[in-house]
Amino acid sequence: MTNKTFLWGGALAAHQFEGGWDAGGKGPSVVDVMTAGAHGVARQITQNIEADKFYPNHTAIDFYHHYKDDIKMFAELGLKCLRTSIAWTRIFPKGDELEPNEEGLRFYDAVFDELIAHGIEPVITLSHFEIPLHLAREYGGFRNRKVVDFFERFAITCFERYKHKVKYWMTFNEINNQMDTSNPIFFWTNSGVQVKAGENPQEVLYQVAHYELLASAKAVIAGKKINPDFQIGCMVSHVPIYPFSCNPDDMMASEIAMHQRFFFADVHVRGYYPSYALKEFEREGYQLDITEEDLACLKKGTVDYIGFSYYMSTVVKADVKNENRDNIVNGALPNAVENPYIKSSDWGWPIDPEGLRYTLNRLYDRYQLPLFIVENGFGAIDEVEGDHQIHDQPRIDYLAAHIKAMLTAIHYDGVDVMGYTAWGIIDVVSFTTGEMKKRYGVIYVDRDNAGNGTMKRYKKDSFNWYKSVIDTNGENL
Ligand code: BG6
Repeated sequence: MTNKTFLWGGALAAHQFEGGWDAGGKGPSVVDVMTAGAHGVARQITQNIEADKFYPNHTAIDFYHHYKDDIKMFAELGLKCLRTSIAWTRIFPKGDELEPNEEGLRFYDAVFDELIAHGIEPVITLSHFEIPLHLAREYGGFRNRKVVDFFERFAITCFERYKHKVKYWMTFNEINNQMDTSNPIFFWTNSGVQVKAGENPQEVLYQVAHYELLASAKAVIAGKKINPDFQIGCMVSHVPIYPFSCNPDDMMASEIAMHQRFFFADVHVRGYYPSYALKEFEREGYQLDITEEDLACLKKGTVDYIGFSYYMSTVVKADVKNENRDNIVNGALPNAVENPYIKSSDWGWPIDPEGLRYTLNRLYDRYQLPLFIVENGFGAIDEVEGDHQIHDQPRIDYLAAHIKAMLTAIHYDGVDVMGYTAWGIIDVVSFTTGEMKKRYGVIYVDRDNAGNGTMKRYKKDSFNWYKSVIDTNGENL
């Protein structure tokens, strides 16, 4: 890990910070019909954009009109890379067009040029919860095989256009969120899918997963032809699931639950379905459309690295059955319990830096591929004092502890880590709640939950702290 090569950076996603939701010919995405919620209050998915509702992602923090100044601040911070995404609907506003929207392509040319001019490497996710709404409404999102072709066209268009500007790519952000079929926003944002009455969500999930994994493999194959130097990764959310105790029942409950975490990466990395999944398909009698040609494609289109997010860990206890799954952060796990050894954030997300070292070891042992921590951060309320001072020591503490755990995994355990990008390097709209007050940034944005504020940017205490971490390659924590 040298200061020259390690990708210290910040992470963002188009829909959470760009704004300009209908500017430059952009079409609506699945997130553009999501209202704001709060901790414990779900975001609503409306049929269309309704005039009397507030959609926080429409304006977000308006990077669309502030990108030059924001990138200047990122450069001052010393970022070596910026991980962000391309809004699919800027390039293909409805998703099924044959020709791309030139104005949308030009916007990303301008952003990437600006980043490169400031010595910041763009790291790009093709689909970060930004599927065109038209594909969701008219085609049923990724439950329809045609959407695989639309995604491939979008990917090829981006690869061709930006092949000299972008080297690091990821296909689908946190593709495994949808494993939690109990929370509709995951299926919707991952795949543009809504489960219908009478359907078995698990069977729908595996069909959708197959088409999306196929779309990813096709993108990898096409990308490598366009530029063999591309590094194309997957992106999974990794929340390790600990056993509550050394009771063998708890241990086994954790082991089986971890299949949910590994399923997508197993296919992305190995190019075939893991045996536990094949057995489940067989046991449950799922009728899935998976062809021989598809399987050959999965085999060929494996990824170069594993991008993942790490925020927290969770725990399962074999003899627990949660009745109200809305109350637990990991709703997909009916036997989840609280970890008595660690604290949680104000949004109930357990804080566990050691879990990052554990995750790095576990992923590296399993896959032996370079790992890229493309999201990690602390969502918290920030108080603005005096002349726009923000003393965000809890965020510094969180990031420092996680970076320390990462450095131990690299230097002591020998894990190959390509980089670390802190999530929401500038305050953005929260994904799960749609709030502004759940802030992650080292740069504060004056905007509140209702959309009021000057949009001015201010450095928090964590700004200079993170700058020094990058400058010293992680020595000054
Ligand atoms: C990840 C997503 O789930 O976590 C991001 O990739 C998201 O889009 C981040 O913002 C933090 O979640 P939240 O809900 O606190 O914004």
